[in-house]
Amino acid sequence: MGLFDSLRRDKKAESAITNEVVEPAEEQPEELVESPDEEVVDETAGEEQEALEDDLAVVQPIKSYADKKPVDHVVGMTKIIAIINQKGGVGKSTTAINLSAALGEQGKQVLLVDLDPQGNATSGLGVEKGQLNACIYDVLLNDVPIQDAIIPDVCPGLDLVPATINLAGAEVELVSEMARENRLKDAVGTMRGKYDYIFIDCPPSLGLLTVNALVGADKLIIPIQTEFYALEGVTKLLESMKRVKTRLNPSLDIFGILLTMYDGRTTLSRQVAAEVRNYFGSQVFETIIPRTVKLSEAPSYGMPITQYDPSGKGAAAYSELAKEVVNRG
Ligand SMILES: Nc1ncnc2c1ncn2[C@@H]1O[C@H](COP(=O)(O)OP(=O)(O)O)[C@@H](O)[C@H]1O
Ligand SMILES: [Mg+2]
Repeated sequence: MGLFDSLRRDKKAESAITNEVVEPAEEQPEELVESPDEEVVDETAGEEQEALEDDLAVVQPIKSYADKKPVDHVVGMTKIIAIINQKGGVGKSTTAINLSAALGEQGKQVLLVDLDPQGNATSGLGVEKGQLNACIYDVLLNDVPIQDAIIPDVCPGLDLVPATINLAGAEVELVSEMARENRLKDAVGTMRGKYDYIFIDCPPSLGLLTVNALVGADKLIIPIQTEFYALEGVTKLLESMKRVKTRLNPSLDIFGILLTMYDGRTTLSRQVAAEVRNYFGSQVFETIIPRTVKLSEAPSYGMPITQYDPSGKGAAAYSELAKEVVNRG
């Protein structure tokens, strides 16, 4: 019996005492060598292998940045845009996914950074969180280079930095870190020149993650749901923007206000849209995102609306918005 066998045995005995689970992968080779019923073991292994192959057929292995398709055009100035509103459920993630995908389809190179611990942009693009080696949390707190967290080509022209629930801890853990407001800026800044647009899907709060987005972004897109409390909280958001602008990011500005979940049949939707236009003037995008069931269904199929329902009004609206974004320069 070799030295390693006795070591393995010791390890097994030790884990029996501590009730540790012995990983089957460690155990198996030993049994394959020693067991007299080699064939029986082999058969099971074969079945397991088949089951594993079946699994792999369903879940695609996650690609890394090194596998990225070559970019087919010269990337000019990268625009970093945070999609932000501390109110939940106003259409931030829906806009992050569908605007990014529409721009990608129109030939732009786009990176979407999911900065919400809920990871809606990640799952909405069909990325299995359980399979990830790294997410934005590791970039912000574990010094993982952002390239190592990028999943390339989740859709044509669109790469993703995913978020997992690990990110929920970041809000607290960042507090004691050096340069805590600049973490995202430093990471995303290294990608300037590689993408036409970098979008940041923000969490529904004004905590340190959102401050990181305000510091890291050049401009903001603020989605506003056309409902009764539409402008509630917007003043507070604008105050946060001004504070960050004065102290940390002088060029920060609004890129556009986006009216979402618009239902033209209701007087309320029309009134709110008019009120928002009155308040923000030409900062409001011409394009209005209509309320449509297809937009709420698409994420559960892991697809942007341009793939899930290409001929519907949701896809039309986000394609139109993409053109408006390009025209705004
Ligand atoms: N235009 C729309 N029409 C119908 N449902 C929408 C629309 N935009 C968003 N939703 C749905 O509303 C909910 C909140 O949208 P979401 O984009 O996740 O908001 P946020 O990221 O601001 O919290 C989601 O269930 C989403 O599918
Ligand atoms: Mg969201």
